[in-house]
Amino acid sequence: MPVLEAVLEAKGLAKNYGQTAVFAGIDLRLQAGELVALLGESGSGKSTLLNCLAGLDEVNAGHVRLVGQDLGAMNEGQRALLRRSKLGFVFQAFHVLPHLDVAANVGLPLLLLKRPDPQRVQQMLDAVGLSDLGARMPRQLSGGQLQRVAIARALVHRPALVLADEPTGNLDARNAAAVLDLLLQQVHAEGAACLLVTHSERAALRADRCLLMTEQGISTHSVISPQGAA
Ligand SMILES: Nc1ncnc2c1ncn2[C@@H]1O[C@H](COP(=O)(O)OP(=O)(O)OP(=O)(O)O)[C@@H](O)[C@H]1O
Ligand SMILES: [Mg+2]
Repeated sequence: MPVLEAVLEAKGLAKNYGQTAVFAGIDLRLQAGELVALLGESGSGKSTLLNCLAGLDEVNAGHVRLVGQDLGAMNEGQRALLRRSKLGFVFQAFHVLPHLDVAANVGLPLLLLKRPDPQRVQQMLDAVGLSDLGARMPRQLSGGQLQRVAIARALVHRPALVLADEPTGNLDARNAAAVLDLLLQQVHAEGAACLLVTHSERAALRADRCLLMTEQGISTHSVISPQGAA
């Protein structure tokens, strides 16, 4: 059997804020075609880890390889270009651009790649249930609608890696399930890898595997199916 190249590989990652260690000794490997859920208490360092994996935040030790490329060996411009083509990031705080309408926000990754594609943008808006809201400005949206704009934007350019920080945190059960369907489609049909930070065991149940972040580091986690979920 050929060994599949990892889409994301982290070794010995450590991050401190001042004298305080957020995490240390983190090893992680994600292959194409797998969705991995990352659970952990509030403040355990999940968002910080995602930022470090994307090269948006500096690590104090360790290495991150994204599609085989060592982020630590690249300059900021090179990292930005790699992120632009290979990464979809759903920020916990959305970071939807307030001066662009919904369609322009969703289409931004394609525009930056010089591949504008209004049809693909509409397809993504349809997929997240925002078909008729392309011309709205972000300030005219609800929190859950903003979250869905952020998800559509993260997937529009079919990235090899999706880092999603609680992407269903503001959504009702039906919309949360639809977003998970979309992430799973990107992973299973299009061969992406996805690291999904979530507090939802229901969401974690649909992942290919689950990890738990604690002060001791990252470990494999089994989610017990709650009655009625799945
Ligand atoms: N810029 C910063 N400076 C100092 N400390 C920070 C900074 N950002 C985060 N922290 C601290 O690092 C720790 C991890 O924060 P992080 O946001 O990664 O947690 P989290 O697991 O994502 O939590 P949540 O589930 O609430 O989103 C927290 O104790 C937080 O207060
Ligand atoms: Mg967080």
